[in-house]
Amino acid sequence: MITIRPARAEDAEALPGIEQSAGLAFRAIPELAWLADGDNVSAQRHRALIADGACWIGADDRDRPVGFLSAGIEGDTLHIWELDVSLDRQGQGIGRALLGRAVADARRRGLAAVTLTTFRAVAWNAPFYRKFGFRVLEGAEIDERLASLLGDEAEHGMALDQRCAMRLDLR
Ligand SMILES: CC(C)(COP(=O)(O)OP(=O)(O)OC[C@H]1O[C@@H](n2cnc3c(N)ncnc32)[C@H](O)[C@@H]1OP(=O)(O)O)[C@@H](O)C(=O)NCCC(=O)NCCS
Repeated sequence: MITIRPARAEDAEALPGIEQSAGLAFRAIPELAWLADGDNVSAQRHRALIADGACWIGADDRDRPVGFLSAGIEGDTLHIWELDVSLDRQGQGIGRALLGRAVADARRRGLAAVTLTTFRAVAWNAPFYRKFGFRVLEGAEIDERLASLLGDEAEHGMALDQRCAMRLDLR
């Protein structure tokens, strides 16, 4: 059984390994396979994100993390930085449950929206979020903050036309 709970500082060490395992899913897509070998967010950065209070864990029946969602509050918006589920646990509803928890928390905080950036055409990226109610932002809908994130991603080798910014309005 999987439990979704807020992350604690001591979870931080496990999260880079989960990101690494999750990223192996990209090996199935030849032009994105290189992502499987990319750098992961450090445990130190996770500790800071966890301290900010917008990180959730999918934990197994021994309370070990098997997936996580880390986000941060940017003005009136919850921005999702990472959503990862260990490869052997994918496709069992854990990602959807983590996303549901983060969105519910954003609503409870009275925030206006949830945002993220992701791949347009990868089945478990934009189409997954779209099913959840997120929409792809185009042109002038992409504010400065999101445009700057897309720009950083392009500098890290992610082709601008393959990435998108998405938003779920809560009001
Ligand atoms: C994205 C991710 C967190 C989803 O978590 P998950 O627990 O595997 O997803 P769920 O079981 O909750 O499935 C939710 C939906 O995701 C999609 N999905 C998940 N895995 C998929 C796969 N391998 N192929 C196609 N669609 C997939 C489906 O649309 C699914 O909905 P459905 O059950 O109605 O078909 C997980 O697949 C992952 O860690 N992927 C690699 C890292 C990544 O891309 N993170 C997101 C960055 S924006």
